[in-house]
Amino acid sequence: MTGSSSAVAPERLLSPITAGELELPHRVWMAPLTRSRAEQPGDIPWELNAEYYAQRADPKTGAGLIISEATQVAPTGKGYAFTPGIHSDEQVAGWKKVTDAVHARGGQIALQLWHVGRISHVDLQPDGRKPVAPSAIRAAGGQTITSAESGRVAVSEPRELETDEIPGVIDQFRHGAQLAKDAGFDAVEIHGANGYLLDQFLRSGSNKREDRYGGSLENRLRFCLEVTDAVVGVWGGGRVGYRVAPLGAFNDMRDDDPMETFGALAEKLGERGLAFLHVVEAFGPTERTDESERVYAACRERFKGAGGGIYVGNGGDDAQLAEERIAEGLTDAVAFGKLFIANPDLAERMRRGGPYNAWDDSTFYGGTEKGYTDYPSLA
Ligand SMILES: Cc1cc2nc3c(=O)[nH]c(=O)nc-3n(C[C@H](O)[C@H](O)[C@H](O)COP(=O)(O)O)c2cc1C
Repeated sequence: MTGSSSAVAPERLLSPITAGELELPHRVWMAPLTRSRAEQPGDIPWELNAEYYAQRADPKTGAGLIISEATQVAPTGKGYAFTPGIHSDEQVAGWKKVTDAVHARGGQIALQLWHVGRISHVDLQPDGRKPVAPSAIRAAGGQTITSAESGRVAVSEPRELETDEIPGVIDQFRHGAQLAKDAGFDAVEIHGANGYLLDQFLRSGSNKREDRYGGSLENRLRFCLEVTDAVVGVWGGGRVGYRVAPLGAFNDMRDDDPMETFGALAEKLGERGLAFLHVVEAFGPTERTDESERVYAACRERFKGAGGGIYVGNGGDDAQLAEERIAEGLTDAVAFGKLFIANPDLAERMRRGGPYNAWDDSTFYGGTEKGYTDYPSLA
């Protein structure tokens, strides 16, 4: 059992919020959650996925905004078996089933645009080629799953992208953003967190390039901002969010100066009028500390997006902590991950002060409806 057992409804958390062009009924957002259950072959969303999202879509009981699981914008952007894509017509048709089901319940859903970069394996890549990355540095300790039978395997060594290949990768994001629009999403979130391609370009530990995409902070920001500009070109800033994990060490990530790196990124994203900045504040071994809180404060202060800048916090929160952080001005909305896996009607449970179903981490990734669409709602 997790979460607050307080009987006092978290009023701020359950109050409406505007994020860019998104008018949202409350601040209990569903965090992006990879569940590795796309239909095969083709990494295509299907009815089972539509049912899962629909269960969480009614804003009276479920999410104020759903952010989808990370979705690769190209075959080369794939890093795990069974994750969905947004690069083929079949995938657009599959996602349309999801967005229709969410909209039928009155909900809103953003697609998380993803390229894994070096967090992949030759067995997942077209023609068994090496995954691409800013630099040819394998993520130490990085793991993936390549098939139903593989178990966890070490990620492959990547190859460094040529400078003249980079516009093509940016085009993949533009294309994915356009297909997300065609599939009926309400918004998109750029996945800049957790050690995937954008994070790899941004942070000094994974980017050792000597061209205009590496070295100085300005150069390390360039790829992230060019991707953002491409996506904003499709959607307008008011329907684009961006996710970061400034202190995240997952996937062998580090940076010499997170305060300045992520503060500068937040400022540049704000100048583009983005709907929200989504910050993974605590995840796995990364916990909130005095130092991390200072970095998050810098991001919050420097992000002047649409409406002055909407900041969405995430990580290990329950209703009470989320309510407190909003009250203290530390966040505007809160995304919940594991609690939403186990509680389709999370907002309703928070309104009532619980109780909460416990999650089963053995069914997080892959499989069928067990541990996916069979968590009960309250009567
Ligand atoms: C099963 C699982 C899958 C996840 N998949 C994604 C993902 O696709 N994209 C992403 O940005 N974060 C992903 N995360 C991180 C979550 O969005 C969130 O940051 C993390 O679970 C901490 O929030 P929580 O304590 O509320 O669960 C995942 C986490 C879990 C547990």
